[in-house]
This record gives sequence, structure tokens and C-alpha cells, in this order.
Amino acid sequence: MQLHNSGVTEGLQRYWLPFTANRYFKQNPKLLASAKGAYFTMTDGRKLFDCLSGLWCCPLGHGHPHIAEALKRQAESLDYSTAFQISNPVTLSFAARVSAMAPAGLGQVFFTNSGSESVDTAIKIAVGYHRVRGEGQRFRIIGRERGYHGVGIGGISVGGMVANRKMFAPLMMPGVDHLPHTYSHADMAFSRGQPTWGAHLADDLERLVALHDAATIAAVIVEPMAGSTGVVVPPVGYLEKLRQICTKHGILLIFDEVICGFGRLGENFGAQRLNVTPDLLTFAKGVTNGTIPMGGVLATNEIYDAFMSGQDEAVEFFHGYTYSGHPMACAAGHATLDIMEKDGLIARARALEPVLENGIHQLKGTPGVRDIRNFGLAAAVELEPFEGRPGLRGLRVFERALDKGLLLRFSGDTIAMGPPFISTEAEIKNMCATLGDVIAAVTSPD
Ligand SMILES: Cc1ncc(COP(=O)(O)O)c(C=O)c1O
Repeated sequence: MQLHNSGVTEGLQRYWLPFTANRYFKQNPKLLASAKGAYFTMTDGRKLFDCLSGLWCCPLGHGHPHIAEALKRQAESLDYSTAFQISNPVTLSFAARVSAMAPAGLGQVFFTNSGSESVDTAIKIAVGYHRVRGEGQRFRIIGRERGYHGVGIGGISVGGMVANRKMFAPLMMPGVDHLPHTYSHADMAFSRGQPTWGAHLADDLERLVALHDAATIAAVIVEPMAGSTGVVVPPVGYLEKLRQICTKHGILLIFDEVICGFGRLGENFGAQRLNVTPDLLTFAKGVTNGTIPMGGVLATNEIYDAFMSGQDEAVEFFHGYTYSGHPMACAAGHATLDIMEKDGLIARARALEPVLENGIHQLKGTPGVRDIRNFGLAAAVELEPFEGRPGLRGLRVFERALDKGLLLRFSGDTIAMGPPFISTEAEIKNMCATLGDVIAAVTSPD
């Protein structure tokens, strides 16, 4: 421990933080020291309620002894297993368990190590699927404005977060187009749950089909609920329409459930909550409660079977990672699902949804609040930016909240919340009320 601490000052100069204003951080460092249950503790002793379950990835809270024990046992028995041409029981049993939770028909699992890898894998499966069926001209992938699909070249190409794309424009995948996003302040501000306006926006897919010809389109990828852009909730009927148009034209529908999967929307997967089944589904984050990096893609049996042609000894899909189905990750995944099942935590997330909804919508009318959105155990409060300083109001709210016992996630001027499923009603109400006080107190840029 001593050794670790002595390197911190030097490390602050050496470490290039992801998705962070590095110069600002290094002038104002904020360090977490430990975590237990729904709380982090900072190195200066401040205790913080974990309002976003880490980065949406720790729904069971932190430091769960069952996960710790499972990891210790796995490290001592099989710490690594070669991933290609050989496997092991913990990986296989975890694949069986994940596919058993999946929406009907999504019977095949491919493991990755992150959401970004899952997205790039799903894109490759989609393009490969059409090719093995003799439709190699289907190469286009349709994403959506404001979508976040991680930071791989595939993910930023189909994604729609402008800041994540513009620096890398020359690297973008060819053939990508985008649906319009589904947010309209004028038509849906302060909606509770799914907005009733906006199903017609899915019709834009017909326009793209007419423009490009369905025979060139491999897949459409969307987040069922768009998380990273600030909890943009699908309008009633929108995903159903997308599904119907995809089916009509032989286009695969990919749901990126890196945030929605494993209970965030009150069912195993968002697809089940929203009653729309995709052909491919990506997951990551909550699958191991954030303890060990892991992700994956669920595919229909039909897609898998299409790849299974040629000689039995021939590799069917030239894709995979050294750490695909890592035994430590699978052990963490098993332990995570044990706890979710034993403690009924997905049902608990569903039961907490109205508590979060009622608590967060109390902030309507607070000066500076432009919109409030919620669905599942997720919510966002969008703030009016300070004149000429976009993002500064979000930063000021984030920093002030640290003094009031909340670790918030801000992206620009939007504050997102996705509390742990183990939260109590009182903790969620307190989170909302405290956020309201903080927003009310942050009235100027200084
Ligand atoms: C929908 C979605 N897809 C992909 C990703 C990327 O995941 P990762 O950061 O694990 O690569 C994220 C991360 O927030 C996400 O929300």
C-alpha cells in the first residue's frame, strides 16, 4: 500500500485519463480510495452515494463478499484458459446461464471484454452473416444520431455522439448512415417513462432503405434506451416499428444493451421490458457487476447456424480475443447472477423505478432545469447551459455534489443517474432531493 501511495504524485503527471479534461483534473484531482455497498469513500474521507452504479456497471454495489470469494477461488483453480480451440467448464456454464436469461431465440453467446468490443463483434457478425448466405453486398450499417456504441472504429462510425467522431472522421467505416435521434424537447420534455410522441421517427428507416436499397443494408443498431447521451427513452411504438421494417427488408436489428442489459430496465434485458426482440444483442458492464471487464454478443440460433457451413474442422468466424470468456470474468459473472437471483434484485430495480421517477420529477421547476427523463432505474436531469460555457454547469454541479455526499455522472450539462439495485427507497429519495439542492445552489459559472 505504501508503495502504491508513493507513486500517486508522479502518476498524476503520467496518467492520461480517458474521457476527462486532463489539465483540469490534474489541477483538481479527485481520488476514490474504497467502496462498499452503494458508497464510495474518497482519499480525503468524503463518503459518496454511487448515483450511477460506477459507470452503469455495478448494480449490486461494491465489495460483495460472494463475488470476492468466487474470484479468489477461480484465481486459485484456473486463472486463465486459452480461448481458442479449447475451453473450460466455467466459461461454458456461464454461456449457458446468459443464454437462458436472454430473450427467446437468442441462444448463442460470443464473449468479449467490453462494450466497444461487443459492438464491433456484432457488426462483424451481421456483415459476415449476410456474406455466408450469399448476400455479401449487404455491408451498410445504420446507426442513430446521439447513439453511443463505444469507441472502436465500428462503434464510433455507427455512433452519433459528435465529439466522439469528429476528430476521427477519416477513419470511419464506409457505408454507414444514421437514423434521426428520438429526442424532441418541444414534444416530450418532462415525460415520465416512455414518451408518447415519436414512433413515426422509425419511418425514417424506410427513407434510408429507399435511398440505399435494402439489398445493401446489413443491420440497424440502436440502444433500446440511449444511456450515454442522457437517458433518451424510446417513444411508445418506436422500437416495434424499427423491428417491423427490419424484418420486412431482411435487415438485422442489433440492440446495444451494454447499459440496459442485466436488469437496468427492470427485466433481464431491455428487449424483454420493451417486448421487442432483436437479432443480435450486445452486453457488458453489469454482467460481472463491474469487477472484471467482460462483454458479449447474443445471437439468434439462425445467425449462428448460417456460419456453420463447410468442413467441420474449418474455423467459421475469424474473430475473437485472447480474453474471450475469461474464467475470472465468468466466475465473477456467475457470482453476480447468483446474487441477483437470490436477492431478487432485478425485481427490486423494477420496484424502485417509481421511487426514482417520483423523486426526480420533483426537481421540475428548479431554476436551471431544462428537462427530466426516466425509465427503468435510470434518470437524467438536463440543465440549461451557462451562456457561452457549455458543460460548465454540469461540472459545477458534479463538484458541489461531492461535498454533499453524491458521486454524479455529468456529460455536458446533463446529469445521469442509475443507482445500484441494492439502494433503499430513502437513499434514492435523498439522492434526488440533494441533487435538487445542489442544482439550486449552482447559479453562476464561478
Ligand atoms: C450502449 C453502449 N455501448 C457500448 C459502450 C462501450 O462500452 P465500453 O466502455 O465497455 O467499451 C457503452 C458504454 O457506456 C454503452 O453505453
